[in-house]
Amino acid sequence: MSKFMDWVDARFPATKMWEDHLSKYYAPKNFNFFYFFGSLALLVLVNQIVTGVWLTMSYTPSAEEAFASVEYIMRDVEYGSILRLLHSTGASAFFIVVYLHMFRGLLYGSYQKPRELVWVFGMLIYLALMAEAFMGYLLPWGQMSYWGAQVIISLFGAIPVIGDDLTQWIRGDYLISGITLNRFFALHVVALPIVILGLVVLHILALHEVGSNNPDGVDIKKHKDENGVPLDGIAFHPYYTVKDIVGVVVFLFIFCFIVFFFPEMGGYFLEKPNFEQANAFKTPEHIAPVWYFTPFYAILRAIPDKLLGVIAMGAAIAVLFVLPWLDRSPVKSMRYKGWLSKIWLVVFCISFVILGVLGVLAPTPERTLLSQVCTFLYFAYFILMPFYTRLEKTKPVPERVTG
Ligand code: HEM
Repeated sequence: MSKFMDWVDARFPATKMWEDHLSKYYAPKNFNFFYFFGSLALLVLVNQIVTGVWLTMSYTPSAEEAFASVEYIMRDVEYGSILRLLHSTGASAFFIVVYLHMFRGLLYGSYQKPRELVWVFGMLIYLALMAEAFMGYLLPWGQMSYWGAQVIISLFGAIPVIGDDLTQWIRGDYLISGITLNRFFALHVVALPIVILGLVVLHILALHEVGSNNPDGVDIKKHKDENGVPLDGIAFHPYYTVKDIVGVVVFLFIFCFIVFFFPEMGGYFLEKPNFEQANAFKTPEHIAPVWYFTPFYAILRAIPDKLLGVIAMGAAIAVLFVLPWLDRSPVKSMRYKGWLSKIWLVVFCISFVILGVLGVLAPTPERTLLSQVCTFLYFAYFILMPFYTRLEKTKPVPERVTG
């Protein structure tokens, strides 16, 4: 075996990669609950790819047959219903895991210097993931697939001068049709998964270049032993591989429970109107995107002007990209930041959740007002960040991790 590995290593850096990224990658020893979600995101990504490939074997991407082919998968294909529900529940699980993963970044300042690129690659993944989910949602060709896509694509029409031509270019037709379905299928099944996989590799390479942050936000590379191993670090493999497996087992229990018993999740994971075939002549009573898009949808609806609404929605995502440069705090972790940072993070999270709830509901004057207040607070969190992070009094950061 070792002779074989010598042969391989002379031609390909297999052992070097194993050591650099696993057995000699020293991660801080104080990782907590929030550090499970990176590896869980990887797990869900693999689930989506594997179940997606098998679904593609029985799915037909045409306006005439798409809906029926999904019914066929659910009823006649061996294990088809499990495959489909693993994939549809996986989409929601992906966003739950990624939102918690991002929240960890906010909590411990993981986006701060020197991890700005880790964060920016993460944000690019998030963008690609939203595009992937949006395009995948058209494929079952149900009522909500059709009308959800109709609402979102028509937003591009708000762009001055080129708007109408652009919407037509995206659809490939005067309305959403089989042509749109075909191109969304190609992008969902081939193009975007490649982009996402590539970005995940860049994300992890960038992280391993600078090393992981931790709940204390202290740099473990400052204190090393005689062999150059950080005193507060432990080898990723076997210590964190084993720990991550515990996370995987717990996650799979919850995930499978939902897949087997509540795959529709009361209409949040699989929306009710989507059990009816797409009909260009019949608009559903109430159109709402899937839950993971609703905070941004609520921001869009909070602004009365369509173009300004689209700009606000885009800005709500764009501002996350520049987060590493908005936080001017001398410390990373919320543990040592002042109370202004803590209050603003709580305000931000509550606003985000309220916006998410409002985005599902039909608008009323009171709800619109509330969504305007929450949109204001959402942006205030970011815009005021350079000020409150500099003004507030921080606590002294320990030299070594506190466990
Ligand atoms: C497919 C989606 C994603 C995958 C598979 C993924 C994977 C990972 C993995 C395996 C880690 C190292 C383990 C850990 O710290 O939990 C990590 C770290 C990190 N990720 Fe992601 N990630 C994804 C999306 C994102 C997104 C959307 C963001 C934020 C915009 C993000 C920001 C970060 C940051 C800042 C770190 C460093 C954390 C630290 O060192 O404290 N990631 N990611």
